[in-house]
Parts: sequence; structure tokens; C-alpha cells
Amino acid sequence: MQNNISIIGLGKLGLCFALTLEKAGYNILGLDINPEYVKEINEKTLISHEPDVENFLKKSTNFRATTSIEETIQFSNIIFVVVATPSLPSGRYDHSQIDGLIQKLEALGRQVDQKHFIVCCTTLPGYCDSIKDKLSSLNYSVSYNPEFIAQGTILKDQASPDMVLIGQANDEIGQIIEDIYKKHTINNPKICRMTPIEAEITKLSLNCFLTTKIAFANMIGDLVKASGGNPDLVLSAIGSDSRIGPKYLKYGYGYGGPCFPRDNRALAIYANDKNCASDISTATDTSNKKHLDFMLTSFKDISATIDGVTYKPNSMILEESQQLAYAVGLAKKGIKVTIKDNPIVLKKVKEIYGDLFTYAI
Ligand SMILES: NC(=O)c1ccc[n+]([C@@H]2O[C@H](COP(=O)([O-])OP(=O)(O)OC[C@H]3O[C@@H](n4cnc5c(N)ncnc54)[C@H](O)[C@@H]3O)[C@@H](O)[C@H]2O)c1
Repeated sequence: MQNNISIIGLGKLGLCFALTLEKAGYNILGLDINPEYVKEINEKTLISHEPDVENFLKKSTNFRATTSIEETIQFSNIIFVVVATPSLPSGRYDHSQIDGLIQKLEALGRQVDQKHFIVCCTTLPGYCDSIKDKLSSLNYSVSYNPEFIAQGTILKDQASPDMVLIGQANDEIGQIIEDIYKKHTINNPKICRMTPIEAEITKLSLNCFLTTKIAFANMIGDLVKASGGNPDLVLSAIGSDSRIGPKYLKYGYGYGGPCFPRDNRALAIYANDKNCASDISTATDTSNKKHLDFMLTSFKDISATIDGVTYKPNSMILEESQQLAYAVGLAKKGIKVTIKDNPIVLKKVKEIYGDLFTYAI
């Protein structure tokens, strides 16, 4: 039992976490609601775009998937929850997959052994506290433990995080989570333990800071370019100051993808809920859009080739991609745009935009 860990939600993040923990020596039972997918995992026929996932899965001997919640709860007292929390049109997170899961736990009734419900999903601060009473009545503690990973390097990022963030229900579970990370990470990361709400705020604030840094770099870069100078020289000089640092201080496309834009906006929403200022998040979002406008208005040729339209190189993700938004903006200005990317990405773009572009591998 001690060495058993249950993981609920075997999507992009949950599956990688399961494989990472299995590789570190734990017995893992993963729950997912999609029976076909569970079958593919158990038969090791799953096809994944995430590097090394298929390899890890093929080599794994102590990881199994199930569709049975009862079996998952019995398997371990340590339960990591990695279901999806997509953004609603309002910018808030949709917590309904976690809520639905809690309903199923209610149906199972109060547990005899103390269970630990550890939320790894992105949540609006306060969400973990809001489910605490209900889960406590069923004998579960509630902790928050998000991961700072990027798609395309999830397994690598999980092995070597800069920091491990633990919003602990109490010291005992905080220590258990810390020990799990000490066992599977290879770089002795800084462990930051705090309350769940502090950890929820930390998770969003960290991404908000990065988006602000990127937007700042692009704002200064646009200014330098408009003045006839070289943005790279200026930003490199600024980044040489050790109080600032060069990371995320490059001139280029704005930030995009499935995490940065929505986490930044959600922090502003939470700040408004608490009657606190959200000006930096809001200005960052606006600045990111204005940078795209600047790129479009400063383009003076009659044709363009965009090499890579996903939100970052070597990913398949088009969500909030500034590269794609740039290509669309140019094409809509009447410029002949050729898009280069891998065939899977090109197929996706073609399905949405048809002959707005020409396509090249
Ligand atoms: N993917 C990332 O790069 C990333 C990065 C940082 C944070 N996160 C956060 O991690 C969480 C998970 O993200 P993801 O990208 O892995 O999502 P995903 O959509 O890829 O996976 C979610 C999985 O949960 C399963 N599921 C849904 N309800 C379930 C239930 N009741 N029981 C069992 N399984 C259930 C789904 O079938 C799916 O396989 C989200 O909150 C996301 O914001 C993701």
C-alpha cells in the first residue's frame, strides 16, 4: 500500500506523471473515463506525440490503467487528480471534471482509512478550500500540487523541475508529497510548501510573471525596432543585469499556448474577485495583442513564409498561437502567406483555414 499511488485522469499530464512515478519505483494505478484509451494503455499500443511516452509505457511493469473508481480509491491512500480544467468564456476555469469526480467519491461513501486527494489541475485560487469540507466528511484531505511542465518536454520537465510546489492540507501529507518528489526528481529541486490557497496563487502568479516578462521584452523590442535599432542588442544588454536575467527576455512572437494566456487572465479575475488590483495581468494581455498588431503593421513585403505555426517549436498545439495569428493577420491583409510545418499540423490548419494559405512541409 505504502508504495502504491493512484492517479485520476491519464491525459497529457496525468499519463506522464504516472509513467514518471512508475519509473521511480512506485506501483501506479491510473483511472480514466475513456475505456478505449485505458485499453490502449494496458495493451501498450498507445500512440503519443509526447517524446518518450511510448518508450516509458512499453518499459513499465508496475503501471496499470482502469475505469473503476472504486478500485482506484482502494488501491492507495495517495490520490493525485489530473483531470482537465478548461477555461470558460469568462476566463474562469471549468472545475466540473473535478466536481464530477467528487460526486462519484460521495457515492462511494465515507472511507475507513484516511485518503489524500491531491489536486494537480490548474484551479482558480480558493477552489481547493471550497471542496475541503465535503471531502473531509468523506475522510479525504485536500492538497494542491501543480506541475510546471511544457508539452513536448513533459517527462523531462517532471524529472528536473526548478521548484516543487506543495499546497499541503497538513504537515504529514506535505511530507509524503515532498518524499515522492525527492524520489522521482534527479536535480534536487527547491521544495516550496505552503497552504493550498497560497500554492494556487503561486501557480498562477509564476505564469503571470513570465507572460509579463515576455510582453515587456516585446514592448521594448517594438520600440527599438520603430526607432531603427536592433531589439536583440538592447534586450541582451538588459538581460545581462543579474537582477533581471536573460530568460524569456527575447524579441519574437508573443506568448500563447494552453497555459500562459489563460493563467494570466485567471489571475486578473481572481484579483478582481478579491477587490485587488489586476492591472499588470490585464496590461500584459493587452500588450501581447498590441505586439501582434505592431508585427502586422510593420510587415511591408508582398509575400511571407511562416516557418512553424504552433505556439512554440516542436509542438502540435495551435491554441492561442501567436505564430498562427500572425499568419492569419498577414493573409487577411492580402499578403501571400506560405505556412511550413509538419504534416499533422498543416492538416489541422488546412481544416480551419483552407486555401487562405499555401502549405509546405
Ligand atoms: N498539459 C499541460 O501542458 C499542462 C500544463 C500545466 C498544467 N496542466 C493542468 O493539468 C490538468 C490536466 O491537463 P491535461 O492537459 O493533462 O488534460 P487532458 O484533457 O489531456 O486530460 C484529462 C484526462 O482526464 C480524464 N478524465 C476526465 N474526467 C475524469 C474522471 N472523472 N475520472 C477519470 N478520468 C477523467 C480525461 O478522459 C482525460 O484523459 C489541467 O488542469 C491543466 O490545466 C496541464
